Amino acid sequence: MQAWRFEGGFGFESLRRVELPDPVPGPRDVLLSMRAASLNYRDLVVLRGQHGRRVQPPLIPLSDGVGAVAAVGAEVTELKPGDRVCPAFFQNWEADAPPADLEAGRLGGPLDGVLATACVFPETGVVRVPDHLSDAEAATLPCAGLTAWSALMAAPQVQPGETVLILGTGGVALMAVQLARAAGARVIVTTSSPGRAARVAALGADHVIDRSATPDWAAEMQRLCPGGVDRVLELGGAATLPDAIRVARTGGQIILIGNVTGNEARLFLPAVLVRQLTLRAVTVGHRQGLAALARALDAHRIHPVVGDTFAFEDAPQAFRALEAQGGFGNICIRVTG
Ligand SMILES: NC(=O)c1ccc[n+]([C@@H]2O[C@H](COP(=O)([O-])OP(=O)(O)OC[C@H]3O[C@@H](n4cnc5c(N)ncnc54)[C@H](OP(=O)(O)O)[C@@H]3O)[C@@H](O)[C@H]2O)c1
Repeated sequence: MQAWRFEGGFGFESLRRVELPDPVPGPRDVLLSMRAASLNYRDLVVLRGQHGRRVQPPLIPLSDGVGAVAAVGAEVTELKPGDRVCPAFFQNWEADAPPADLEAGRLGGPLDGVLATACVFPETGVVRVPDHLSDAEAATLPCAGLTAWSALMAAPQVQPGETVLILGTGGVALMAVQLARAAGARVIVTTSSPGRAARVAALGADHVIDRSATPDWAAEMQRLCPGGVDRVLELGGAATLPDAIRVARTGGQIILIGNVTGNEARLFLPAVLVRQLTLRAVTVGHRQGLAALARALDAHRIHPVVGDTFAFEDAPQAFRALEAQGGFGNICIRVTG
């Protein structure tokens, strides 16, 4: 099989196209002919070699992908050749509370990821994807899609009429916009770009705050929503968390997801304590959540937003595009098919 792999280090100079032995499925495994892969902000952190000591080369990158079942082991009961499936981001988290060593089961580091023409997973490590999705759309589900689902649908589930503030227009944010709208929430989004503002409004956001024109987005939020926001999807990190707290209503929820502006935030604790805010962290989600996301997308006929798409041989260019952070929608790679 063909794969892209970090060899001897990280960075573009270490990302090599390699020929590897074809993987062989065990009795309970499925062999996937990979069709598409999708990039997430985290893959940039891996590329930069900043994902911690456990993520080491040699490593096939990317957690998100979709493949067609090419062969099944003798004890596989639920899947058959031709089924289109996504692997779960965490291969060791089926449902409920995560296992103690959750990180050990993560695709794209420390486990090999999906940027290969063939992959083997246990039957219990994959989920069927809805037929209405293209391969590129389906490839976005394991990390970007499931994270948005976990932020909105894990208890307490988003309610009709709830106001949800989503920071930024990355892959997680765009899926969250669509899921929150489908749930009947009022959706407000911040972005740094007038072009992306127009596109996220067209996707269904009720209000969009363009930070390039309105740098004090928190003041604008307080004008739009004087009673405060029910739920904030906090994707910005260090620079945005204090303002996310500022705009939440008494008893509201801050869902901690991202850190694009840095890891160390300063909090004014009385604002959290007096207004009894809940700060809830999301770590992508479990495999049953991925299956529930697939059902929700099917029921609402939602299409994840796909941005620039690259051929398998141009995979480094996909990473360059991710680094440039200029697009709209998940950057995807066509693998086969
Ligand atoms: N906890 C988890 O389970 C989990 C899962 C997935 C991702 N994440 C994290 O969530 C974050 C987003 O991931 P992603 O894959 O969706 O990213 P992405 O597709 O690469 O997009 C990143 C987005 O961040 C936004 N951004 C940049 N500066 C910002 C700021 N100051 N305030 C608000 N938004 C800002 C940008 O949108 P605009 O320019 O339009 O504002 C950009 O589109 C990353 O930190 C990632 O590591 C966490």
